[in-house]
Amino acid sequence: MAFQISLSPSGHHYTSDATTTLLEAALAAGFTLPYGCRNGACGSCKGKVLAGEIDHGKAQPNVLSDDERAKGMALFCCATARSDLTLECREVGNAKDIPVRMLPCRVQKIERVAEDVIILSLKLPTNERLQFLPGQYIEFLLKDGKRRAFSIANAPHSDEFVTVHIRRVDGGAFTAHVFETMKEKEILRFNGPLGSFYLREESTKPIIFVAGGTGFAPIKSIIEHALHHGEKRQMHLYWGAQNRAGLYLPELPSSWPVHYVPVLSNAEASDAWQGRSGFVHHAVLADFPDLADAQVYACGSPAMIDAARADFIRAGLPEEDFFADAFSLAPLGS
Ligand code: FES
Repeated sequence: MAFQISLSPSGHHYTSDATTTLLEAALAAGFTLPYGCRNGACGSCKGKVLAGEIDHGKAQPNVLSDDERAKGMALFCCATARSDLTLECREVGNAKDIPVRMLPCRVQKIERVAEDVIILSLKLPTNERLQFLPGQYIEFLLKDGKRRAFSIANAPHSDEFVTVHIRRVDGGAFTAHVFETMKEKEILRFNGPLGSFYLREESTKPIIFVAGGTGFAPIKSIIEHALHHGEKRQMHLYWGAQNRAGLYLPELPSSWPVHYVPVLSNAEASDAWQGRSGFVHHAVLADFPDLADAQVYACGSPAMIDAARADFIRAGLPEEDFFADAFSLAPLGS
């Protein structure tokens, strides 16, 4: 049986049933309520039931006290509906609403997907989940106190592992470690989520995603999130790399219902490339000479981002509709 759930003060509505937690149903409907562990252990999802009946599920008194229950509080990651409900809770509208945390993680899987690209899958401790907005990044804390930032490549709904795409940087000590000596089960520490590169869901304009190399990672997260929530806006993805190997997940973008254009800037004869060539943002401009009615999300090298911003604005893109995340590479030897 479906129950109608209303959120206060936003006035948003969604439906849930007697077996899906109020948090899971809200997330599935595209409403981002706060959470930490999604398992009754942290209290981050606590909110008030203003009207209606719930089942508290596995909520434990050390996280939700009897006194709090008596006052109508509930853990939305444990509670299920028994009637139509009105819930009082804060919704996560932007990055500032999500606390930045320092978390340990274990390297679960190291996948070499190209000569110079590794995908790391990271497992958080039991009872921890990382809440983030698709497009945000984490920052690894290294033993010498330095930090290295990488975008989160998975979408929030698929968060069993936090995945990052790491390109080898010549002379970079951290990436050298990842490529040469890192072993599965290694423990790392990171800080996150960070950054303001995430999908502005209030717009209805068509979206053009521009990715350079591993700049594909946050864009993958955003697109998978958008598709999961049935995004109706037109989406175009331009993914640029030097050669065919640089498009290191070649099947994935073609499997999405988005208009996908791979672009190579330096194809080798062995690539036998028949597709688009040149700078990735030039390919966008060739297809969209007028960008007045689009939104662009771009992630790649600072040079790519700067050139794209200038040329797109010249093509009519409103400056406030250009969202970018530029990699800043660590100095050589660090
Ligand atoms: S998300 Fe941690 S208790 Fe609900």
